Order: sequence, then C-alpha cells, then structure tokens
Amino acid sequence: MTYSKGAMIYEGKAKRLFEVEGHPEWILQEFKDSLTAFNALKKGSFDGKGRVNRDITSLVFRFLEKRGLPSHRVADVGTNEMITEKLDMLKVEVVVRNVLAGSTAKKFGLEEGTPLEKPLVEFYYKDDVLADPFISDDQALMMKVVKTQSELDELKSIALKVNAGLIEFFGAANLKLVDFKIELGRTKDGRTVLADEITPDSCRLWDKSTGEKMDKDRFRRDLGNVQESYVEVATRLKNHWESK
Ligand code: ADP
Ligand code: TMP
Ligand code: ASP
Repeated sequence: MTYSKGAMIYEGKAKRLFEVEGHPEWILQEFKDSLTAFNALKKGSFDGKGRVNRDITSLVFRFLEKRGLPSHRVADVGTNEMITEKLDMLKVEVVVRNVLAGSTAKKFGLEEGTPLEKPLVEFYYKDDVLADPFISDDQALMMKVVKTQSELDELKSIALKVNAGLIEFFGAANLKLVDFKIELGRTKDGRTVLADEITPDSCRLWDKSTGEKMDKDRFRRDLGNVQESYVEVATRLKNHWESK
C-alpha cells in the first residue's frame, strides 16, 4: 500500500499518531517500544515491542472482524505501524474479567485467580489526569460518555462478544484470557467500532498449562522475561492464526 506519513498529531504512552497525507479520514498509528505502568509512573522499553504489539493487534482485529466485530484497522504498514480509521473516541475504557485479578481482586480483598461465574464488565472514565477512575453506569451517563442507557448496554454487549471471541483466539494459543481492556470509537457514519490496540499491554494472559503470567504484569510486578513473554505470545498466535 502506498501512503505518505504526515505530521504527528499526538504522542501517547505506547503509540504515536500521525496524519496520512491525502487521507484526512485515516490516522497512522506507530506502536512504540516503550512500556509504562501505573499511569506512566513506571517506565521501561524493549527492542521490538512496537512490532510485536502491532502484529498481535492486527491478528486480533482480523480475527474479530471475521466474527462480525469491526475495528478501526485499515492496513498494516512498515514494521510497527497500522493505518486506521480516524474515530471520534468514546471517553471510556471497557474492561471485561473472566477471572478475578488486578484492581478488582484488590478492591474486594479476594484472591487473584478466583474464577467468576459470569464475565464482569466494568467502565473506566478515560482521563489520564484523573488516572482513569472506575465509573458506574449512571456516572457514565452523567459524564456523557454516551447519551443513553441503551448505548451503554450496546457497549456491554460488544464487550461480551469480544470476550467470547478473544477466549477462543487466545485459547488456541494455550493462553487463558483473564481480563482485558478495549476502547471504542464512532465512525463518521455513526458505527461503533473497536479501536486502539489489543495486546499483552491491555490483556491479562496466563499460560493454560503452567499458569505463568504472559502479559504486562511481568513488567508491572518485576517478574522478569517481559520481552520473552510478549514474543512468545506473538509467536504462538502467528503459528496458529496467520495461515487461517
Ligand atoms: P495513551 O493515550 O493512553 O497514552 P497510546 O499511547 O496508546 O495511549 O495512544 C493512543 C491514543 O490514540 C489513545 O488516546 C487512543 O484512545 C487513541 N486512539 C486509538 N485509536 C484511535 C482512532 N482510531 N482514532 C482516534 N484516536 C484513536
Ligand atoms: P486492572 O485489573 O488493573 O483494572 O486491569 C484490568 C485490565 O485492563 C488488564 O487486562 C489490564 C488492562 N488495563 C489497560 O489496558 N490499561 C490500563 O490503564 C489499566 C489500568 C488496565
Ligand atoms: N496503561 C497505564 C500505563 O501505561 C497503566 C497500566 O497499564 O498499568 O501507565
């Protein structure tokens, strides 16, 4: 695909966004090698992280698209870039949990690894200055994340369908999907689609055989082998899904 990278629009913790010349409807997303946690209080990086996360995101979005869950992905370009549809982003991060871990395990004093009877959907208000606080449905409506309860219900429904897809997708690579975060945005014609990324930065993935953590918790908790785990996740997924 021929394209010309334009001006940088935004630099975030894990990606840089650029204009694409002649295509105001697109954004080029460059996945960076940097790794942050706790709202960037902790910083790190490893060579090739951007490439690994671009490749994983691309595989995930292609898989979900085939199951009727569209995303912003237009095309992969370069080694660590993706052209995407420019969206009106919703100011919410939607988290789905299958197994209790992380902030919700801590909040209720329950043991990490406790399976949930049914998937739990949570909303977080997307605002770095406020450190993305948890919000109730009513708070999401108060803050005009969306206009109506039925739109919130649509987000939950999409999140649960993504969850079902991702359980299969990661399961085929012998990875248990503990929890994950997605972001969504609206297209010009009003469709709600998946955006941002789906990677070991945004999911908890435990090896099904050993229980070993294979995601950003290795960095957050100083468990070592961060790069090796990300590369292993990408390799397993490519081996299973690239030819499909
Ligand atoms: P952060 O902003 O949290 O530091 P990133 O470094 O990943 O995170 O930056 C990517 C930014 O791009 C995020 O704010 C995300 O919401 C936004 N974004 C992702 N996909 C799109 C899209 N298709 N259109 C517009 N913005 C997007
Ligand atoms: P949590 O248990 O810390 O709330 O995280 C739940 C899931 O969301 C986990 O898979 C990691 C992901 N996540 C992000 O993608 N970005 C974030 O800023 C946070 C806090 C979590
Ligand atoms: N996404 C946040 C950060 O990059 C928090 C986290 O993932 O722990 O700092």
